[in-house]
Amino acid sequence: MFKINDNYLKLPGSYLFSTIAKKVSAYQAEHPDKQVIRLGIGDVTQPLAPAIIQALHGAVDEMADAATFHGYAPDLGYEFLRNAIAKNDYADRGCEIAADEIFVSDGAKCDSGNIQEIFSVDNKIAVCDPVYPVYVDTNVMAGRTGTYDPKTEVWSDVIYMPCTMANHFAPELPKETPDIIYLCFPNNPTGATITKAQLQEWVDYANRAGAVIIYDAAYEAYISEDDVPHSIYECAGARTCAIELKSFSKNAGFTGTRLGYTVIPKDLTCGGVTLHSLWARRHGTKYNGAPYIVQRAGEAVYSPEGKEQLKAQVAYYMNNAKTIKDGLKAAGYTVSGGVNAPYIWLKTPDRMSSWEFFDYLLERANVVGTPGSGFGPSGEGYFRLTAFGTYENTVAALERIKKM
Ligand code: MLT
Repeated sequence: MFKINDNYLKLPGSYLFSTIAKKVSAYQAEHPDKQVIRLGIGDVTQPLAPAIIQALHGAVDEMADAATFHGYAPDLGYEFLRNAIAKNDYADRGCEIAADEIFVSDGAKCDSGNIQEIFSVDNKIAVCDPVYPVYVDTNVMAGRTGTYDPKTEVWSDVIYMPCTMANHFAPELPKETPDIIYLCFPNNPTGATITKAQLQEWVDYANRAGAVIIYDAAYEAYISEDDVPHSIYECAGARTCAIELKSFSKNAGFTGTRLGYTVIPKDLTCGGVTLHSLWARRHGTKYNGAPYIVQRAGEAVYSPEGKEQLKAQVAYYMNNAKTIKDGLKAAGYTVSGGVNAPYIWLKTPDRMSSWEFFDYLLERANVVGTPGSGFGPSGEGYFRLTAFGTYENTVAALERIKKM
């Protein structure tokens, strides 16, 4: 008789954003007259930029003609896109990353979930707490996290690195040595970030400890301050210890279009084996590539027009972030984030738990946010709002929150 992967049974509840969606649907079914404003999941609301739409149309026309039609994409992604990434995201920033160290995919969520497959199940992971739930949940599915304590909401074999107001939401080097370290900066969910010198400490630590850093830079486009690194490869020594994940979702509105990439430098090895070769093997076996038309759309992100238009789009969302942050502060909330990231992280009022505040906000203001505790135990008592709504909805949500 077949057996299931019973690691799945260890997962508590459903995926955070699915739980929220279910709660909101139930509320709407009971209150069809209420206009709910969604500032929960970090999903974009602005249409794709004109340069991207133009590239999509052009690529669709190519697919209609036998002379320019494209079938399966090359394993690592089309060269035109990998070259554009290598130049714009790396060479122009002084980072040494070759086009054949870039693996194009259909998004950073899948890559951040799948990357653990190339590591032994014995490896110990370290995560920031709070953390993007995909990193932990996918390691649970793989059987790497030990047992779950529902009281403390922690896994026995995971190293948690608390990110709280006391450390400005920046993790400290763990006492116990991990094998795999997940870092995400600018951070989801706290919106915090670290300086280049702080990131250099992590790179040095990983090289000393023989650990690998999985660096999620999905929110890099939102960096507004000078001393904040856009890529981990800005740090010396990162080529021997870091994998970087990037997404086109947040900088270019591809949440529904799907495109991302993973960088694995060929210098990153374990016992003489390159991680690059393992991921290439996985990619070749399990994946047939992001669609040609989407990769052409991705290329347009790096065109001069694309860059201009996306700068304006990021500014639009960051204006929302400022609106939320200033509005909440004026209403007496303790707030952080929103300067180098599209997320605002607030302390819940009156010692409410994160989920209590979720219900309170939904019922009193008809606004949806994300409970901090859904990202990990140190997120309890916090709440996340996203700047990815429309400006009109953002302003309306703030008005309602101020009246609560
Ligand atoms: C979030 O809200 O944390 C993100 O949108 C989730 C994601 O990018 O998958």
